[in-house]
Amino acid sequence: MTSVTSLTASVNQRLADALSAAMPDAASADPLLRRSDRADFQANGILALAKKAKANPREVAERVVGGIDNGAVIKDVEVSGPGFLNITVTDRAITENLAARLADTEQRLGVPHNPGAGTTVVDYAQPNVAKEMHVGHLRSAVIGDSVAQILRFTGETVVARHHIGDWGTQFGMLIQYLIEHPHELDHKEADSAAASGEEAMSNLNRLYKAARVAFDSDEEFKGRARRRVVALQAGDTETLARWQKFVDESKVYFYSVFDKLDMVIEDADVVGESGYNDMLDETCRLLEESGVAVISEGALCVFFDDVKGPDGNPVPLIVRKSDGGYGYAATDLSAIRNRVFDLKASTLLYVVDARQSLHFKMVFETARRAGWLNDDVTASQLAFGTVLGKDGKPFKTREGETVRLVDLLDEAIDRASAVVREKSQDSPEPLTEEEIAERGAQVGIGAVKYADLSTSANRDYKFDLDQMVSLNGDTSVYLQYAYARIKSILRRAGDATLAAHPELELAPAERALGLHLDGFAETLAEAAADHAPHKLTAYLYQLASYYTAFYDKCPVLKAETPAQVENRLFLCEITARTLHQGMALLGIRTPERL
Ligand code: ARG
Repeated sequence: MTSVTSLTASVNQRLADALSAAMPDAASADPLLRRSDRADFQANGILALAKKAKANPREVAERVVGGIDNGAVIKDVEVSGPGFLNITVTDRAITENLAARLADTEQRLGVPHNPGAGTTVVDYAQPNVAKEMHVGHLRSAVIGDSVAQILRFTGETVVARHHIGDWGTQFGMLIQYLIEHPHELDHKEADSAAASGEEAMSNLNRLYKAARVAFDSDEEFKGRARRRVVALQAGDTETLARWQKFVDESKVYFYSVFDKLDMVIEDADVVGESGYNDMLDETCRLLEESGVAVISEGALCVFFDDVKGPDGNPVPLIVRKSDGGYGYAATDLSAIRNRVFDLKASTLLYVVDARQSLHFKMVFETARRAGWLNDDVTASQLAFGTVLGKDGKPFKTREGETVRLVDLLDEAIDRASAVVREKSQDSPEPLTEEEIAERGAQVGIGAVKYADLSTSANRDYKFDLDQMVSLNGDTSVYLQYAYARIKSILRRAGDATLAAHPELELAPAERALGLHLDGFAETLAEAAADHAPHKLTAYLYQLASYYTAFYDKCPVLKAETPAQVENRLFLCEITARTLHQGMALLGIRTPERL
């Protein structure tokens, strides 16, 4: 066990002990400790507890202060206002805590790891076969990947599921067209993964359009396409082989995009809609037998009191259509059974566009009625908002078409490379062209990810590349430069070693930085519990700001005494490590030199 008790936790414990001694009858002894600007911490809990016990809050507060065991942690406690406590901790405690974090042999900065936590299935990065990926798929991938990493870091078992759209009647027309034009998906040249991804997608696009034209204009083709759907559903070998070709070619493209996004997607976790085909009949049978679903106008439906159409009539969730076909709902209900009973998940998380919220609300409620979900096994949608253009309208090209994700990422990389190149020109250690290209990609992709992760997921956000690659403000570039600057100081330290010196008095900027660093574990715990990466981005942005203030006020290599140089290098090191770890959990690289 290398986890470090944070200062917040140890102060909290000391206060809670004194509080229960002062008020032995109180039901709770939560001092409600918060970080504060006036002192290091403020405790607000006494007021309400005293009122409840009809005691004078100031008197209770005085008694708590008298009974606190300060240890080597608390320097000073004073009662303020009607019964708040202002608490200052010792410089020694700050430095010792950080030293323990840096000494963590598992390199986890003392962040606790609870392997018994549970199993969460995260459903994210789910594009559709034979279709271009768009900004919505970007959000799902970026948010899902970060949430999965944050959860894993805290000890949760995470199973990724990429629920790609790989089934449906549109495959009849696609497969039929491919049979009639067998070379449409052939590759001509493929020198890089990115190029073959592009080629795969442009083939699929061309085929999709041509098949659609044939379907809409040629009655005979339409008939053949419809019969092809029947063959596909019946499991006809040749038809299935062509279907597989569409899936494989689409994956070549998906993986090339995920690769550009610097994101690892495991093939085994790509379990698309078709992966649940064998379960659909049974899902319907279970729902019908339990009375959760009923036949209405020939379709198998689930009704909800609070889901009504504009005409006031109930709108059901259709599990099986009147022609016997299955749709999105039957697949998702079957996936729930698989995730709960086979994967043994305790939490199901769906990182999906907010516009699908009604679907998930109905699907989850159906699964609860069926007993597949309950108080111990829960499902929720991590719904994300729409990506808007600079004009505040849903992101479109000037021609009104959806923007291709790849074009967007390439543009971000170009812009970032320009920023990196310019910065490098007036740097004492300029980068080579090769380095500029590599860093440009890391900065550009980081910028896109950070912009997405730093607003709470449910809000819409503006895709504004100028803002995203700006060096000032709440951007990944700002954090990456902060990291690189620290690394450069550490390189320039030469023979000076870094070492913690708990005996040293700390300057205000050092204390502020140190206290913030000590709060990393708590931020991660919150970000994990709330599935909220934006709490981590906010923490990291503040960290960089505290570091900047420290750097302005406290010379590192030119500090007054050798001990102070060592201690400040130590503060630099733990800041760098914390930035690096935090950014990694967001899926963002931190280059050593920029
Ligand atoms: N493929 C869908 C889309 O592009 C998203 C799938 C979401 N996941 C799910 N289990 N339904 O909109």
